[in-house]
Amino acid sequence: MSKLPATSCLFFLLIVAIAQTSAQDLPAGFPKCKRDANFDKCLVDAVNVAIQLLKSGNKEYGIPTLEPLSVKKLVIDAGNAPITLRQTLKNVKVHDMISTSKIQRYRTDLDKHLIICDSKTDRIEMLGDYEMSGRILLLPITGNGKANVTLLNTKIEHRLIGEPFEKDGVKYMRLKEYRVSFDPKRVYMRFDNLFNDKTLSEGMNRFLNENWEIVFNELKVGYAKSFGLVFRELSNKLFEKIPFDTIFLS
Ligand SMILES: *[C@@H]1O[C@H](CO)[C@@H](O)[C@H](O)[C@H]1NC(C)=O
Repeated sequence: MSKLPATSCLFFLLIVAIAQTSAQDLPAGFPKCKRDANFDKCLVDAVNVAIQLLKSGNKEYGIPTLEPLSVKKLVIDAGNAPITLRQTLKNVKVHDMISTSKIQRYRTDLDKHLIICDSKTDRIEMLGDYEMSGRILLLPITGNGKANVTLLNTKIEHRLIGEPFEKDGVKYMRLKEYRVSFDPKRVYMRFDNLFNDKTLSEGMNRFLNENWEIVFNELKVGYAKSFGLVFRELSNKLFEKIPFDTIFLS
């Protein structure tokens, strides 16, 4: 591979720096919606197109590859009986989430900087390194190793709570909060090496999957919080660079 001369690297950095400080338009190919009676409907199609365009990321906006989506760390604290547990997932790769997601409905109130949407995701496969200890349905559980948590046919509600801000006299919106709630039809969990013992591990994994509904019910708030933070950060990469009236045509 030939090396770029140092000056062209500098030049490239300069362009990136400029791009990051000036107002931008939506990435190429993103459909736009006018704030009229049809707005919420228009947004459904527009965002579905946008999601697929963003799958492989966008350097200009600092958006990493979303398929798979890398998440450094998910920390799940479940503090209420019957499940008291601390679970950490590290170096997580989330597969299929973006490519199998479809937005179904928007409900927006842009005067209040509020965007609510429902989506359906066929498959969310989280692979990573786990550590956990605590109790599940009275049984002690502890271990560390490889984890696979897979959600099928998940309804997700997204609540984007924004706040306006101004840059060079132009109005922007950033998200203060991105709340997510998950409602999967089925969850499969696989935690290798529980109790550091093959037989006990197999038994516990079987137990977790037979009781997936109760188990996941206690864990899902933790997963949702972690995903909310990731989605907020990704969304703000666009919201903080593109003026409000450029995203949502008046
Ligand atoms: C993760 O679990 C799902 C559901 O059981 C399975 O379909 C998938 O193949 C597993 N992934 C890996 C890498 O083992």
